[in-house]
Amino acid sequence: MLDHVILKMASGSCCLVKIGPSILNSDLSNLASECQRMMDAGADYLHLDVMDGHFVPNLTFGHPVVKCLRPKLPDVFFDMHMMVAKPEQWIEEMQAAGASQYTFHYEATEDPKTCIRKIKEAGMKAGIGIKPKTPVEVLDPFIDLVDMVLIMTVEPGFGGQKFMGDMMPKIAYLREHFGQIDIEVDGGVGPATIQQCADAGANMIVSGSALINSENPRETIRYMRTVVEEAIQRSQLER
Ligand code: DX5
Ligand code: ZN
Repeated sequence: MLDHVILKMASGSCCLVKIGPSILNSDLSNLASECQRMMDAGADYLHLDVMDGHFVPNLTFGHPVVKCLRPKLPDVFFDMHMMVAKPEQWIEEMQAAGASQYTFHYEATEDPKTCIRKIKEAGMKAGIGIKPKTPVEVLDPFIDLVDMVLIMTVEPGFGGQKFMGDMMPKIAYLREHFGQIDIEVDGGVGPATIQQCADAGANMIVSGSALINSENPRETIRYMRTVVEEAIQRSQLER
């Protein structure tokens, strides 16, 4: 039975675990080397937090920084977490800069469908996210159109905040109703909170300060990956 489950996972018929460090709280004067450090520790992709001072009360960086980063990390998947007020505005620029996925917030646009269409037309993968106060059901009409959904487990804007465990039912709802979709969890995720995320059904794991400040990021990534893999195996066995 277990062999069968592992074969199913290997053939890609069920969602894969991916660990995506957020470099928001790293030494941003050494951004490329911090990104490389995370990839060398076994990360699957990078989660890059873009903030505009409007959608969230903080500023980070935009497409010019992504453009400089891309040649240094030519093969890395860049998931752009666009915490910006007008997500439609930066699609072309981000694509030209080398973004792989454009993850915008449901709350930031009046027309998520058009935003998704423009992202796809630009040749990027599309992700849609919700803030903690937004009910998960608002995502229902968009699930079939996107590559990934993002459930925030902190109020977006800052790294190093406390994980909101009461967001887990949102993840469980999506996993129950929408099968194999990629579900990303972001905010306060680390070794102390990964089990809750895994049990709820998340498979794309963003971790910022817990990884950046880890004395052994390789071991921290390995541990989180194992916890999520085991939860997926259990859920397959229970079917
Ligand atoms: C918060 C960002 C997150 C955050 C992750 O607005 O979207 O990506 O920086 O960092 P930690 O894991 O420290 O919460
Ligand atoms: Zn983020």
